[in-house]
Amino acid sequence: MQSDIERVLFDGPAIHKRLDEIATQITADYSDRDLTVIAILTGTLIFMSDLLRRIPLPLKLDCLSVASYHGKTQTSGEVIFKELSVPDVAGQDVLILDDILDTGRTLEAVLKEMQTARPRSIRVCVLLSKRKQRARNVDVDYIGFEIDDEFVVGYGLDFMERYRNLPYIGVLKKELLEEPGQ
Ligand code: IMP
Ligand code: MG
Repeated sequence: MQSDIERVLFDGPAIHKRLDEIATQITADYSDRDLTVIAILTGTLIFMSDLLRRIPLPLKLDCLSVASYHGKTQTSGEVIFKELSVPDVAGQDVLILDDILDTGRTLEAVLKEMQTARPRSIRVCVLLSKRKQRARNVDVDYIGFEIDDEFVVGYGLDFMERYRNLPYIGVLKKELLEEPGQ
């Protein structure tokens, strides 16, 4: 796995140091609020777990899965695993956690959906934000690190569902991103 990484951008200690800073900021901002964290699966799992344990507030936690559901013809007797439903956040101060802001499409869709549930407020926290021209303009309130427009993996982030368990964030070797036969 390590040999697939071109270079490490942020090692474990660097990530944890930054999480200390963000957690302090979030704790101060939400000390008198009714914080509900909504983590977008699966990429945020490791980030979420490390961040939330640094926030000593009586927060609530829920998860949202935005992977597109490829519905197949449903036959009786088939077990279907459905997407998680949109959490009920009416009147709550919602903080959405996502792993990385790339084109902005995911967060735009999530924000739109969450607004319909009438929360008191919504903010967004991402571990990584790519410096690039985005397809969608999304306002993000807390950013772990800004990075160049490169494909990164580790610390929850995947390439074809692999590399999530790397304890650091690194740039994947370019040749691995190229699809065979292209
Ligand atoms: P967006 O909708 O284009 O902003 O993309 C957000 C999602 O794309 C993230 O939640 C990731 O799952 C995935 N993604 C975008 N860039 C990367 C990357 O560099 N590494 C791993 N996943 C990425
Ligand atoms: Mg992904």
